[in-house]
Amino acid sequence: RANVKKITTGSQALDGLLGGGIETRTMTELFGEFGSGKTQICHQVSVNVQLPPEKGGLSGKALYIDTEGTFRTERIKAMASAIGLDPKEVLQNIMSIRAINTDHQIAIVEELQDIIARDESIKLIVVDSVTSHFRAEYSGRENLAVRQQKLNRHLHQLVRLAEIYDLAVIVTNQVMARPDMFYGDPTVAVGGHTLYHVPGIRVQIKKSRGNRRIARMVDAPHLPEGEVVFSITNTGIRD
Ligand code: GTP
Ligand code: MG
Repeated sequence: RANVKKITTGSQALDGLLGGGIETRTMTELFGEFGSGKTQICHQVSVNVQLPPEKGGLSGKALYIDTEGTFRTERIKAMASAIGLDPKEVLQNIMSIRAINTDHQIAIVEELQDIIARDESIKLIVVDSVTSHFRAEYSGRENLAVRQQKLNRHLHQLVRLAEIYDLAVIVTNQVMARPDMFYGDPTVAVGGHTLYHVPGIRVQIKKSRGNRRIARMVDAPHLPEGEVVFSITNTGIRD
C-alpha cells in the first residue's frame, strides 16, 4: 500500500473513516438508498481532486460517467466557489460522459485506457451509478449470471485503471434500506448486492436527521470498521 494518495471528501469525519480520504489505486463503492448522498459525494470529490495536495487534492482532473443523468454543473460550480476555486475552470476539468446503457457504459470504460494514457492528470474516475443499467437490462433471475459476469468484468477493468494509473475510482450503487439491514449481513440487502466480490473499499451511506448522513465502513481490509456523521450543505459535503 505504498504511495497511496488521498482526496479529501470535504468532511474531516468522513476522511477519518476512510483513513485520510478517498484513496488512489483502489475502487471505493458508495452504497445506500436513494437520496443518501452518493451523488453529492461524487460531485464533491470531483471538485476536491483539483485542489493542490496541501489542501487535500491531487491537482488532478476527473472523469465522471453519469448513467442516471444526475450530473449537475450548477452544483459543481457552487461547490467550487465555496472552496475558493474558479467554477469555470473546475467544470472544464471534469469530463462528464452520459452512458445510455450497459454496452455504452462498458465501451466508455474500455476507451478510458487510451484517454488516461494521453492525459495522466486524470486522477479520479466516477461511475454514478455503476449498477443501474445492469439492473434494468438484466432483470430477472434467468439473467442474473450474465449480469454478474458482465458487471464483474467491468468492475475489474476499473480496478485495473486505478492500479495502473495511480488514480481513485468511486462507484455508486443504490441499495434499498430494509429494517433489519443493519443487524443482518449488510452486503446482501433487499435492493441488490454490494460489489463484495471485487477488491476495494465499501462505504454504506445512511440518511439521518435533516441534512445529516451516516457513513459506515464495511469489511475494509486495512481500515477499522466504524461509523461517522457528516452533512450535505449548500456549500457541499461538510462535517
Ligand atoms: P440516488 O441516486 O437516488 O440513489 O441517491 P443519492 O444517494 O445519489 O443521493 P444524492 O447524492 O442525490 O443526495 C440527494 C440529497 O442531497 C438531497 O435530498 C438533498 O438532501 C441533498 N442536496 C442535494 N443538492 C443539495 C444542495 O444544493 N444543497 C443542500 N443543502 N443539499 C443538497
Ligand atoms: Mg445518485
